[in-house]
Amino acid sequence: MKMVQLDKAKHDRHRFDCGIDALNNYFKIMASQQAKKDNTRTFVLEDINCTEHVIGYYTLAMAPIDLASLPAKLQKKHHNASSGGLIARLAVDQRYKGNGYGEWLLIDALRKLLMASKTVAFPVVIVDAKDGAEYFYEKYGFTAFQDAENKLFITIADVRASIGL
Ligand SMILES: CC(C)(COP(=O)(O)OP(=O)(O)OC[C@H]1O[C@@H](n2cnc3c(N)ncnc32)[C@H](O)[C@@H]1OP(=O)(O)O)[C@@H](O)C(=O)NCCC(=O)NCCS
Repeated sequence: MKMVQLDKAKHDRHRFDCGIDALNNYFKIMASQQAKKDNTRTFVLEDINCTEHVIGYYTLAMAPIDLASLPAKLQKKHHNASSGGLIARLAVDQRYKGNGYGEWLLIDALRKLLMASKTVAFPVVIVDAKDGAEYFYEKYGFTAFQDAENKLFITIADVRASIGL
């Protein structure tokens, strides 16, 4: 499977449809602009049968950690930390759903963030889950923040333990 940075000259952004307008529109309109401004990075999984077709994408950035929303033990451990890695968006086109691509994208995103954390340390990975997708993330070890059900985190230590780079 081929994961590459979104290339607006190549990838057919307007074909992409994950069923959620906000995620479709971000991909069509914002993702490339935001990457150009160095605000976020968007990676796409190409369909090997037609590499302009996008199976799914995720967008990575950094985000502030709301320490007060972490469990007490982690608050204490990370009280000097300010930022976490952020999976800002992750979606699979409806034509490809249910084939393990969501899992594959999530693991790839975590692997990239784990690599980045070796250079610029951060203690947690945060996700913004849309439309009931928190259950998808919980399945892979994420925990909801105490004050925000749609926002979840996993420690980079747990990512390292499960992916092990
Ligand atoms: C959530 C999403 C990324 C899953 O992609 P997918 O390719 O269909 O998922 P996979 O085939 O890799 O499924 C992996 C596992 O997660 C489960 N799963 C899939 N979608 C789920 C959801 N919304 N809630 C809970 N579990 C889910 C699957 O049942 C599967 O579990 P199993 O192996 O025990 O059967 C996809 O449905 C999607 O893009 N949804 C719309 C956008 C969205 O909600 N994005 C996430 C947050 S921004």
